[in-house]
Amino acid sequence: MDLFSPLKLGSLELRNRIIMAPMTRSRAHSNALPSEVMVEYYRQRASAGLIISEGIAPSADGVGYCRTPGIYTEDQVEAWRPVLDAVHSEGGLMVAQLMHVGRVSSQLNKPDSSETVAPSAIAARGDMYTDQQGMVPFDQPRALLSSEIPAIVEQYRQATVNAYKAGFDGVELHCTSGYLPAQFLSTGSNQREDEYGGSVENRVRFVLEVLQAMISVSGAERVGMRICPDNSFNDLQDDDPAETFDYLLAQAATMNLAYLHVIRMRSGRVDNLALGRRYFSDRLIGNDSYKLEKAQAAVSSGELAAVSFARHFIGNPDLVERWRSGLPLSNFDLETLYTPGAEGYTSYPAAGSD
Ligand SMILES: Cc1cc2nc3c(=O)[nH]c(=O)nc-3n(C[C@H](O)[C@H](O)[C@H](O)COP(=O)(O)O)c2cc1C
Repeated sequence: MDLFSPLKLGSLELRNRIIMAPMTRSRAHSNALPSEVMVEYYRQRASAGLIISEGIAPSADGVGYCRTPGIYTEDQVEAWRPVLDAVHSEGGLMVAQLMHVGRVSSQLNKPDSSETVAPSAIAARGDMYTDQQGMVPFDQPRALLSSEIPAIVEQYRQATVNAYKAGFDGVELHCTSGYLPAQFLSTGSNQREDEYGGSVENRVRFVLEVLQAMISVSGAERVGMRICPDNSFNDLQDDDPAETFDYLLAQAATMNLAYLHVIRMRSGRVDNLALGRRYFSDRLIGNDSYKLEKAQAAVSSGELAAVSFARHFIGNPDLVERWRSGLPLSNFDLETLYTPGAEGYTSYPAAGSD
């Protein structure tokens, strides 16, 4: 097997194993509505074996960063449709990454009448960017009542329904980087005393319920999950991430998911890839700082089914073709990573076309 060979993950039939990793690029309109420039951006990158979208909020409360998209209104579904039409017309595949930020949020970035909620009323330490005031501290969240949790799970289910309506080929649960699912998993951010907090079984409950809700829409073969055990990003702390994720994966492994997407993050206490392999050895996507040679080696040895790349795809919309043809890669401009408009977004040409 090599990176350029086809791969079946659940019901997703990838034409190669070079996956575009999820990247928030802050090009949506302010009301979490996908914008026109996003159509071209994803079309340009459709030769990836699979595109995993930027994080998409399943509800207004789930929005945290400025100019990020949602998939909880009819208008948003309609605005996603041309993105999927464009990707499909190029023969590509795309899943929606469902990302609820929980406490990692600023009210300034959120739609009207939304609020910042979390497992416990514990603010994350740190700041985030807002268009109105520059860097501001993360919001103080309100702890979710036990009776409110089924409604959050339902938001993920409805977002999955909406994603399929818009034409997405699958959905991925964003379960790392300090956002809501990770907040439930981790002892630092989850100090609940109900059935969603305390023991590992209880802390994992929310994530399993969300996965079941996503699966209930159209089967598990189109549902993936992204994890990064012991990721401290956004002030996340867990006493024993190896135990937490071992339990989570043992349960998730019984669900017949399409794939597990693991950020290896070599600085943590857990060997993330080894943990992922224990339960998902035949459908593991690896990520984080891979270069072509190491990615090839991981796939040809069978260690990984596929590799996802984020930063390489920013300046190289035709990454697959460049690697296939041995062409050099372009760099990207840090200044325009999150700025509105086409510059630094759709302005990177394919090799040979500039
Ligand atoms: C600009 C940018 C935005 C990102 N946004 C997301 C996101 O929305 N969801 C997510 O799971 N990871 C996100 N990530 C993390 C990437 O998916 C990936 O894990 C990380 O960049 C390491 O992969 P790489 O070395 O191939 O770039 C983002 C990374 C970058 C550079």
